[in-house]
Formats: sequence, C-alpha cells, structure tokens
Amino acid sequence: MLMESRAYTCIVRCERLLHTDAIWNDLLSWFRLPASCPCDHRPLVHGRVKGLRDLNINAMRARQSRPSVARVYSYVLGGRDNYGVDKDVGDFFMGDLPGSEMLAITNRQAILRAARDMASDGIRQVIDMGCGLPTDENVHDVLRRKVPDARVVYVDNDPFVVAHGRALLAIDENIAVVEADVGDPAAIREHPDVQRLIDFDEPVGIIFGVVLSFLDDEADPAAVVRDWSQRLAPESRVYISHFRTGRTREAVATERKIRDAFGVGTWRDEEKIKSFFGDLELLEPGMAPCARWRPEPPAPGTDPVQKDLSIWEDLIVAGMARKR
Ligand SMILES: C[S@@+](CC[C@H](N)C(=O)[O-])C[C@H]1O[C@@H](n2cnc3c(N)ncnc32)[C@H](O)[C@@H]1O
Repeated sequence: MLMESRAYTCIVRCERLLHTDAIWNDLLSWFRLPASCPCDHRPLVHGRVKGLRDLNINAMRARQSRPSVARVYSYVLGGRDNYGVDKDVGDFFMGDLPGSEMLAITNRQAILRAARDMASDGIRQVIDMGCGLPTDENVHDVLRRKVPDARVVYVDNDPFVVAHGRALLAIDENIAVVEADVGDPAAIREHPDVQRLIDFDEPVGIIFGVVLSFLDDEADPAAVVRDWSQRLAPESRVYISHFRTGRTREAVATERKIRDAFGVGTWRDEEKIKSFFGDLELLEPGMAPCARWRPEPPAPGTDPVQKDLSIWEDLIVAGMARKR
C-alpha cells in the first residue's frame, strides 16, 4: 500500500516531528493514527504512538525498494500491504506459474490448524517464528478460542512485519512482536518481551512456519531447532513447515525465482526436514504435505474426499513434534 506523501506533525515522545515520506504515511495508516496532528495528546493516540516508538524506520526505508518475503507472501495470500517490487514477484508466481499460490495458501491453513491443536493439547504460550504480516486470522486468534489468555510472541526479522504486527497483532499485554533473527535463539530468549511472556518451565508451542526454508545450511536450522528443544518443558510442541524439493520443471522454476528475488530460500528433501526434529517425538501423521496435514474433518453428512494433490501442494510439507 503506497499512500501519497503528505506533511504530518506527530507527537512521538511528545516531540513535534515533521514526516513527509511514504513509509511514515504507511505507518500512520497501519496504526490508524489520525491524518492531522492531535496535539491535545489524546490517550488513544498516545497508546498507538507507543507501538511506533521502537520501530526501525531506517531499516524499513532501506528495504522498501527490494522485494520482501513477507510482503510477497502476503500479496499472494490476497493482502494489500505491499509495494510494486513485491507485486512483480507475486505476479510472476501467479501469472507464469499458475496454481503456485497453493504453496502459500495450504501452508497458512496448516499453521492455523497447528495452533488449534496446540491449544487442544493444553499449550497456553506460543512463539511464532518468522510470523509474517498479519492475515485475516492469526495464531493468537485461533489459540484464544480455546485459551482466552494465551500468550503469544511473534518474531520476525523484517521491520515491516514488526510495524504491522505492533499495529494489528499486539492487541493486549499478552501479545508481543519482536524483531529478531530466527537463526539466533539466544537473542530471542533474552528479549525482554520473551522473558516477560514465556515461562520455559511450562509447555511452550514453537511454530516455524516455512521460516527454516529461509535459513541456509550454514545457518544450521537443525541446530536452531535443537537449541529450542533442549530448553523446552515436557509436553511442549514444535511445528515445522518447509519447502520440499521437487523434480518438476515448475518446482525448479519456483525454487530459482525465490532465490533470485530474495537471495535466500533453500528447498530440502523430506528426510532432511524430518531430521530437524532431532530427539523430539514426531506426532501423527508424521511429515505430510500441508494440504494433508491434519485436514479439517468433512462437513457432517458428507463423505471424505481425498483429492489428488496439485504439483504445488506437493512442494510444502509440515510436521508437529512433542517434547517427551
Ligand atoms: C513465507 S513467510 C511465512 C509467514 C508465516 N510463518 C506463515 O508461514 O504463514 C516467511 C517469514 O519469515 C521471515 N523470515 C525469513 N527469514 C527470517 C529470519 N532469519 N529470522 C526471522 N524471520 C525471518 C520473513 O520476513 C517472513 O515474514
């Protein structure tokens, strides 16, 4: 979403600052701040401005001209918060590789089912790694249907995601959005919001929604998962979804386009992905294409129909494991 640049005087830290660039205007819109400066310091505005304070606005500016994984993924899912550079990549997938959006769609649906099952299994606190931009339904929405006071920390290394998340996801004190690299578990654990919200003596749910696909082998995703697993209490859950290597022409083209567009993106075979769980107990149905991972039961009175997977649905798999 690119809005027209306009002058705006704002009260961040009660200073009067003049912001005229597109990023700032986007932020005002995401945080639903009024178009003209309300210098009467109304509490509502102050509450929202608080969320703006620590944003990495310079990093956002620097990333505006390059496609971002989060924004392209959101665009493919039907989101509106993106720039021309993101649309170009998203349109390539949907135009040149029709059907490839099912990679994103089935991945997102499976994550929400994972959150549903974590809540059913008694998990009351979740860290969502590489959470992405907010969608119509988010991990905390699903968890809170069963656990109204569920605590959630969303983690992402993209400052746009953090800005959006603070505006739209962090709706109360039990939800935080942290800017951090998934490849650095210690930094995440030491973050004040993680220390405040996550009790590692109790079961925790950790969601790695396709984010490990964006860690190269040198970043050692297996070690990242192991690091977390070692610190989790019994009955914790770890969910991973990941791009699976395919041999079709379409699979090769998708893999190449993701690498070219973002400079990262590693596709792995199922055995490799499974090995990330290490000593954790992989729960039923094991690793499966996201589209087949614990699907919603058929509507009452209808027969379960197992339709064939498309080539795209076959390229993303998921699994959930339990700490014994
Ligand atoms: C394809 S999106 C997936 C979003 C969400 N997890 C889902 O599956 O619906 C991948 C997300 O991972 C984030 N990401 C990629 N590499 C990361 C890293 N090293 N640390 C933290 N976040 C990362 C991206 O910014 C993006 O928001």
